[in-house]
Amino acid sequence: MFSSTTTTLPEVRGVPRHVAIIMDGNGRWARSRFLPRVAGHRRGLEAVRATVRACAEAGVEYLTLFAFSSENWRRPKEEVSFLMELFVIALQQEVARLHENNIRLKVVGDRSALEPRLVELITQGEKKTENNTGLTLTIAANYGGRWDILQAVNKMVAQHPNKRDGYSEEDLAPYLAMSYAPEPDLFIRTGGEQRISNFLLWQLAYAEFFFTDQLWPDFDSESLARAFSSYRSRERRFGRTSEQVTDAQRQVESKTPAR
Ligand code: IPE
Ligand code: IPE
Ligand code: MG
Repeated sequence: MFSSTTTTLPEVRGVPRHVAIIMDGNGRWARSRFLPRVAGHRRGLEAVRATVRACAEAGVEYLTLFAFSSENWRRPKEEVSFLMELFVIALQQEVARLHENNIRLKVVGDRSALEPRLVELITQGEKKTENNTGLTLTIAANYGGRWDILQAVNKMVAQHPNKRDGYSEEDLAPYLAMSYAPEPDLFIRTGGEQRISNFLLWQLAYAEFFFTDQLWPDFDSESLARAFSSYRSRERRFGRTSEQVTDAQRQVESKTPAR
């Protein structure tokens, strides 16, 4: 279990421990090339591969990618089917490679609406990679931040129905879909939009936000490096004053033996 950023100061490092990305702009990437939207999604998958590799190399521990939101069902039927098919193909093709690279795969979201063969591939992929100790790659599929909070509340209340003094954040935390991961340090959204679109509402409470106009299929290791560089320039205060944060950092540094 990880402590919440709203209660303790997480260790600040040069490389974010957990990166969460809204991969947006596939449709516009395709449209600008007079291609069908789905061609953008196909290219988007290549950007996913490159980003997974770059994060693993940089020493990121958790990478969480928003692949399909609970609202994306509102898109044209053909586009939804294509995205589901692309997910199936990606799992069929990539799980072995993820495993070879010691990557642990996780999928979060409401699986009840996904096709059975997709659910089967997800379960197999998670099982095969569950003991890997490298990067944890989480794909958010049919995920919504509100869904997550509600499903967690429902499970918590079902298991502890008579808690008279009320529930705490710590009571809820184990039931959230990403209870296995610390909260995101860095949130990236490509495609120019500056909104959360019902992604990790609870978990992003203290993430640093990075927005770029670059469209997701164009996102590469240089784009990631720019986001990391912006992240390094931030002072994360978690409600405290700048002086408190500097003092806490000095104390940590004085305890770390010089090498
Ligand atoms: C993001 O790209 C991919 C998904 C939501 C699945 P979009 O498809 O939203 O691309 P734009 O925003 O229309 O350009
Ligand atoms: C958010 O992108 C969801 C994913 C990237 C999967 P959208 O393109 O669906 O977001 P909105 O609807 O424009 O906010
Ligand atoms: Mg979009």
